[in-house]
Amino acid sequence: MNEKLNNIEIEIPKQPEFYKIPARFGSVPIDEAPLGWEIETKPRETKVTKFEHSYPRILLPFQEVKRIEFGHNKEFLENNKKDQSLKELFPKGANRLFFGDNLYVMRQLPSKSIDLIYIDPPFFSGRNYNVIFGDKNEVRSFSDIWEGGIPGYLIWLNARLYEMKRLLKDTGNLILHLDWHAVHYAKVELDKIFGIDNFKNEIIWFADTGGRAKHFFPRKHYTLLWYSKGKNWYFDEKSIGLPRNECATCRTTLDKWNNLKKNIDSDGRVYRTIKSNGKIYKYYDDDPVLPTDVWSDLWLDINNLQQKDPERIGYPTQKPESLLQRIITALCPKDGVVADFFCGGGTTLVAAQELNRRWLGSDQSRIAVSVTSDRLVRCVEEKIGSLFPVPDFTVEHWGIYEIPNLENLSDAEFREFVVKAFGGKPENIFPNIHGLRAGVPLYVGEPSRRTKIIKDDVVKFSQAIFKDKKTNFGTMLAWNFSPDAKRAAEILAARENKRIDFVRLSLIRLESNDFREHIITKHKDYGSLLSFVQPPDVKIKIERIEKLKYKFDISDTVSLNKDGVIANLQWDFNFTEKFSSTEGYAFLRDKSTGKPILTVEYEFPKEGPYTIACSIQDDQGGEKTSVLELEVK
Ligand SMILES: C[S@@+](CC[C@H](N)C(=O)[O-])C[C@H]1O[C@@H](n2cnc3c(N)ncnc32)[C@H](O)[C@@H]1O
Repeated sequence: MNEKLNNIEIEIPKQPEFYKIPARFGSVPIDEAPLGWEIETKPRETKVTKFEHSYPRILLPFQEVKRIEFGHNKEFLENNKKDQSLKELFPKGANRLFFGDNLYVMRQLPSKSIDLIYIDPPFFSGRNYNVIFGDKNEVRSFSDIWEGGIPGYLIWLNARLYEMKRLLKDTGNLILHLDWHAVHYAKVELDKIFGIDNFKNEIIWFADTGGRAKHFFPRKHYTLLWYSKGKNWYFDEKSIGLPRNECATCRTTLDKWNNLKKNIDSDGRVYRTIKSNGKIYKYYDDDPVLPTDVWSDLWLDINNLQQKDPERIGYPTQKPESLLQRIITALCPKDGVVADFFCGGGTTLVAAQELNRRWLGSDQSRIAVSVTSDRLVRCVEEKIGSLFPVPDFTVEHWGIYEIPNLENLSDAEFREFVVKAFGGKPENIFPNIHGLRAGVPLYVGEPSRRTKIIKDDVVKFSQAIFKDKKTNFGTMLAWNFSPDAKRAAEILAARENKRIDFVRLSLIRLESNDFREHIITKHKDYGSLLSFVQPPDVKIKIERIEKLKYKFDISDTVSLNKDGVIANLQWDFNFTEKFSSTEGYAFLRDKSTGKPILTVEYEFPKEGPYTIACSIQDDQGGEKTSVLELEVK
């Protein structure tokens, strides 16, 4: 990672500078710093720790568990060569979907690289409503949010908003989508983090959600707060405007408007002129302008998703694609990058994909990530098709690692993973030095658990650190060390005063005592953030009900993770290369219990051989996609 890009510090604006209220108002009734912003004052030293005291910096690697290929990746790798910031953000050319806590995900992404961040975080509205997917991770994060009431929620949110500001390009924009529960408190905090001069709009989206209050006026709107990162923000009003001569309310073109004088220029374009204070103003009929009759900063024309809406996946907080399309079109340039770090079912990412923007998304829930990944594939297959080349995308885990995947990594990927997990910085300049931690060179063995470090490796490493790093200390990390390797290290210490330390890698189950001793007592902050998960043990029963109609039952499937239960499943009854769920089979929930439906029926369109896939997630982060063949009669 490019140090220069990643280490850009951002400061919160100083209140007296930006909060220009009339003098007669006196002081503003808010503190200077956002809640959770910490300043440590020690004798003779004042240190701003920002949000790192409440949320310590924990560096763990990303694990790529899935790559969805659309066949154009070379083109996107080429683009990376022209743009350093794209290369930093999408090193493999692919868009990225992360499973993990967004604070820690964001902290590993490069500064000034994103054009638009839209977020629709939990609203602090109520326990059941806020926990959508019921994953253990989502529930755990949710209890963090609730700790300490509204101030606790704001500290949790501020730490993330601060990272978002760092990630935005200087021309970038942020949209925070909330409702009446927390939006007014969040506005005050955003003024402190982004600066009140950077506040652009309070957009009211009227979204009729059904239900009528009896004792007060019905609460039917959401508030979207728009902040720019700086003074020169991106906004393309023409991209969403309507021709000046269009009457949006009546949906017709007007020949006469505002009684201005009509003219036609040499290109045949109609324009109107008006003289005011000696100056002539000229307006073209077909010039797009922002309407004020159907919508302005009051959005009445975007319907919320209804129960039977074909766009609807089935979970409560899904937002309509048209809402995101308007935001992305106006606030993110055509070749720009959109991010949604609370992506839920992936509406923002799907809208970004449709509008041919690059995207990044994250969610703490395994189910959300799975549903989003599936929805993105469907969007490319059904809607985008061959409209334009689409980059691949990867699904990457942060802090919750799939054990079977670790051994399948290439040498280079494994080295990078281990060096980062050890708190070091990967390096690949010298062949026998794989990273550095606090100035100490690191060497990593091979991915297979059957391999060992031998004497020759130790000798090569000790020569490399001396020659290339001018040091006599080094650390080797591997699954196993042979006795002759240990002897070689002892001889080097005695004869040449070189110290080579060995660190043995081991996969320890999260629930074991060893794990607690090794990790939690040493790094207590990692306790709730690091886990290793197994995919579920999938068992599918199939029963023919009648001609072309079958029953599929996965109730014998079990989670292999401690206390794990099956939390969601998706079916693809016509599986080809990529999982792409059959419509209506993505987020199956029993309406009364909210539990996943484990038995489904499906009627095939015609007889013949079919490949069927079922993707199953447990509530601990484990997932497996099982594929089977069926001769449909
Ligand atoms: C209101 S939903 C977003 C819905 C989304 N806008 C859509 O249209 O599908 C909020 C999401 O934030 C996720 N979330 C909550 N805390 C998180 C965290 N710390 N990191 C990442 N995701 C988080 C939840 O799992 C949930 O999916």
